[in-house]
Amino acid sequence: ITNTANFIQGDVKTRIDKWIANYPVDQKKSAVMPALRIVQETHNGYLTNDLMDQIAEYLEITPMEVYEVATFYGNYEHAPVGEIKLCICNSISCMLRGRDDILKHLENRLGIKPGQTTPDGRFSIKMVECLGACGGAPMMQVGKDYHENLTENSIDLLLEEWG
Ligand code: FES
Repeated sequence: ITNTANFIQGDVKTRIDKWIANYPVDQKKSAVMPALRIVQETHNGYLTNDLMDQIAEYLEITPMEVYEVATFYGNYEHAPVGEIKLCICNSISCMLRGRDDILKHLENRLGIKPGQTTPDGRFSIKMVECLGACGGAPMMQVGKDYHENLTENSIDLLLEEWG
């Protein structure tokens, strides 16, 4: 069990405080999304209930308000994920333009299904809703990068690049 007592301190605290400073004093809770993102990034890519409780306490809101945001948006993780998270768009344009073949190819190459992580902890596949890049369908998001007009070949090249 990771000890996450007082996770919001040092650099994490400084980063969250910067966001809080963007909002009026009585609107600390507006920083909930950046706070979740910062804590997730610095806690191996996922959130725990304890961490969400700490965010709630820090922003002076109820834990429920934090849970709601953290479960509504697809970009927060609640269990460990791979170092490289392949977010495959699951919406209509990508579906119509060959998402299924792309997904099948990835599943075969990595030996995992959406929601799973490779045994070496390197890759996870995750299905996400439209990322607004429908013109480049089928696409996937990896970190901050959008990979568009995917083909089996471009997937192979990416996997080679990532090793
Ligand atoms: Fe895939 Fe919009 S449908 S990015």
